[in-house]
Amino acid sequence: MNMLALLGIFTFVIVFLLRRFFDPKKRILSQIPGPRGIPFLGNALQIDPINIHKDLLSWKETYGDIFKLDFAGDQVVVLNSHAAIHEALVTKSKEFAGRVADSFRNEYMEAHRGIVFRDFDNEFANVKRVIHSAVKMYDDNSEKVIHRINAEIQCCMDKFNVYNERPFDPKKDIYTTLINIMAELLASHRFEDDDPKLNDIIEYQHAVSEALSAGVGDELDMFPWLRYFGNQTFKKMQFFLKMRNQIIGEWVEEHKKSFNRDDIRDLTEALLKAREDGDATFSDHVIILLVDDMLGAGIITTQVVVSAYLQLMILHPEVQTRLQHEVDSVVGTSRAPSIEDRDAMPVLQANIHEILRYVSHVPIAVPHKTTVDTSVGGYDIPKSTQVWINLFALHHDEKIFDEPWSYKPERWLDDSGQLVSIEERNKIFPFGAGRRVCAAEQFARTRMFLFLSNILQRFTIVQPEDAEPPSADPRNYTLGIILEPGPFTIKAIPR
Ligand code: HEM
Repeated sequence: MNMLALLGIFTFVIVFLLRRFFDPKKRILSQIPGPRGIPFLGNALQIDPINIHKDLLSWKETYGDIFKLDFAGDQVVVLNSHAAIHEALVTKSKEFAGRVADSFRNEYMEAHRGIVFRDFDNEFANVKRVIHSAVKMYDDNSEKVIHRINAEIQCCMDKFNVYNERPFDPKKDIYTTLINIMAELLASHRFEDDDPKLNDIIEYQHAVSEALSAGVGDELDMFPWLRYFGNQTFKKMQFFLKMRNQIIGEWVEEHKKSFNRDDIRDLTEALLKAREDGDATFSDHVIILLVDDMLGAGIITTQVVVSAYLQLMILHPEVQTRLQHEVDSVVGTSRAPSIEDRDAMPVLQANIHEILRYVSHVPIAVPHKTTVDTSVGGYDIPKSTQVWINLFALHHDEKIFDEPWSYKPERWLDDSGQLVSIEERNKIFPFGAGRRVCAAEQFARTRMFLFLSNILQRFTIVQPEDAEPPSADPRNYTLGIILEPGPFTIKAIPR
């Protein structure tokens, strides 16, 4: 590189940092406490990207329910208490409904035109409504859904059986089951195990995880020109884009040919119908982006819940026995569990709620951004400030939960063994709340219930003799796109 190019880069970096340093937002936010950083870089070097959830917990101890961080001039406000999170997500939902959509990576991958990273723009409410009603339509058609979901889960159970009580790592089987459930919801599609496209999906989903995981590729957002110098994250983004457009693009093309507006079978067709009804937002390309967002959001979240469940059953065999009694008495052995069984199974529902609290695998939700000048907890927050909703801190707040680091599903049951009231259950926000609440909470809950009840009916999960006990403590999980356990093995003993 010649001297002139170096001087150019140096000047660019200095101007970039100075502009951030003198950002007027900094003055308004200066009343909020937060850890002292170093000049220009702020707290950027004090945070461990794969352990953000733990770093934020320890700062909460020192700086309280609301504190502020500075990442090389970018100000981030972190909300930790129930009161602050409720104020932002529920009371002032619209004011905190933005997303940080304009980073280089978001723009390059066009994530800002999908749903998860779309800012609170003019089209947002409409896009979310169409997606929400498509998922609901699928949910409401319960007979078909339960049948399809159960068929996939049974396939996974048959794979567990093939290990014949030998130790195995269950992650891949769970992952492919969830891909097939999502492919059905999104495009009425099913992959056979030997379909090379199944591996393509697994690979491209990994590529996006690697390109967007905590701490990976941040340098590209700050210095996009690094892409010309062999940046690895950029290469993964290119691979991801190619595969996404190819695989999901094919689905969309097939659906355009077979589309029948009187028989909407899946989310792709619901989006095509919205377009036919005159909504110009849903171009072919935006449909690809939305379907891909749902695919990504729908796989990894539930995979972590099922994995955490397996680990917790190894560590708490008495809980597993209690759950099996419930499944045996409500469902029996002659048929598969159905969603109609759910109300009669409070112990399993309490366990699912406790897994969502204890693991909190979406620890800071998806970062929010203020859409107007606003306030929280009495502090002024200017428009366009990034806000992290620290669900991990809320869900382990000892002022709210007795022994927050213990797995205690009974905390969600009353004296008569029934689920506690909805107000009590709403002490946690595992799916967020308000304008940016998860687009598929009910669907996710149905799937978790069916997955876990099927496992309970067919297997007892135990620890392999030669393996170390797993650590289900979420403080030992690491942050990728969400919190994930490390590798572990189980034995599935048929009942
Ligand atoms: C256990 C399962 C799941 C959990 C715990 C979960 C949790 C969350 C959370 C915390 C958010 C962010 C809320 C916020 O930013 O305030 C979110 C957003 C989202 N989730 Fe889920 N989720 C789950 C399953 C799913 C599934 C199965 C799908 C799709 C089928 C899905 C689709 C989405 C979408 C599209 C968004 C973005 C919504 C928006 O930005 O407006 N999620 N989810």
